[in-house]
Amino acid sequence: MQATIIRTIQLTSTIAQLLLQVPASYPTPLPGQFVRIACNDPLPRPFGVSWYDSHESTPQLAIVVENRGPGTKWLLDRPSYTRLEISTPLGRGFALNVAKSRFLIVGGGVGVAPLLSIFSSFRRDYVISADALLGFKTSSQRILQNQFIRETTKTIIATDDGNYGMHARADELLRSHLATYTGDPYVQILTCGPRPMLKAVAEIAKEHNIPCQVLLEEYMACGVGACGGCPITLTSGERVPICTSGPMFYGEEVDWNV
Ligand SMILES: Cc1cc2nc3c(=O)[nH]c(=O)nc-3n(C[C@H](O)[C@H](O)[C@H](O)COP(=O)(O)OP(=O)(O)OC[C@H]3O[C@@H](n4cnc5c(N)ncnc54)[C@H](O)[C@@H]3O)c2cc1C
Ligand code: FES
Repeated sequence: MQATIIRTIQLTSTIAQLLLQVPASYPTPLPGQFVRIACNDPLPRPFGVSWYDSHESTPQLAIVVENRGPGTKWLLDRPSYTRLEISTPLGRGFALNVAKSRFLIVGGGVGVAPLLSIFSSFRRDYVISADALLGFKTSSQRILQNQFIRETTKTIIATDDGNYGMHARADELLRSHLATYTGDPYVQILTCGPRPMLKAVAEIAKEHNIPCQVLLEEYMACGVGACGGCPITLTSGERVPICTSGPMFYGEEVDWNV
């Protein structure tokens, strides 16, 4: 399918949000799903959907892109009105249809972007009530802070170097938050970020008996379960492709030591 870049909003020196217009027939993404976009290379690159708005007959979808190499640089350099080849939404997204939905979001770096999607307007069959704990390397790397503040009951920011918010990594912020939290119990933790952070978050969630859903963003090739390029080992010993069995996994499903 084809998408058109409507606007590129620079969030930091290396990260921007791309607002894309997609066809009216575009399938509605579920929070946590990803899309693959052709980036001037035979191998399309995967990006989590960070926002979706059905917007009458011209749906819009936002992705947040960090400049990591040739594909992302090419995408970030495209001017408005560039047409892009985009896949339909792919993979297993978050399971949000829990009866009582008090969520805790834990995001690290550019990984906070797909977590914002749970507040998108496309699913209003549940009410999301959530707090967010967001960790960034340093103050200038903060992204989407105002959007999280607008959507959540409480958003707490930490930086690794302490030059904004709490001086802590995201997992340390989670540990200290849960140690003092006295509000309504969280029914789920939703998390995305670097793998060591996800491992730590899954462990802390287990200690507190809070189910945890993680979004994994490993390197991918075919994106459709065919090439064996993105395996993850589960605690059952089974190896499954992240692109089709994930990117969402329950924390206790993943063998974090492999
Ligand atoms: C399900 C999923 C969702 C993603 N969502 C986002 C998103 O919302 N925003 C975003 O900026 N990026 C996201 N990514 C990562 C993004 O796809 C890669 O950064 C991109 O493919 C890099 O392409 P490139 O040509 O710019 O760099 P490459 O030259 O392909 O890679 C540059 C460097 O980044 C490493 N790398 C590539 N892909 C990944 C990855 N997935 N995880 C860790 N390291 C990687 C490479 O090994 C290399 O060292 C996501 C990845 C997946 C699998
Ligand atoms: S990227 Fe090919 S199997 Fe997942």
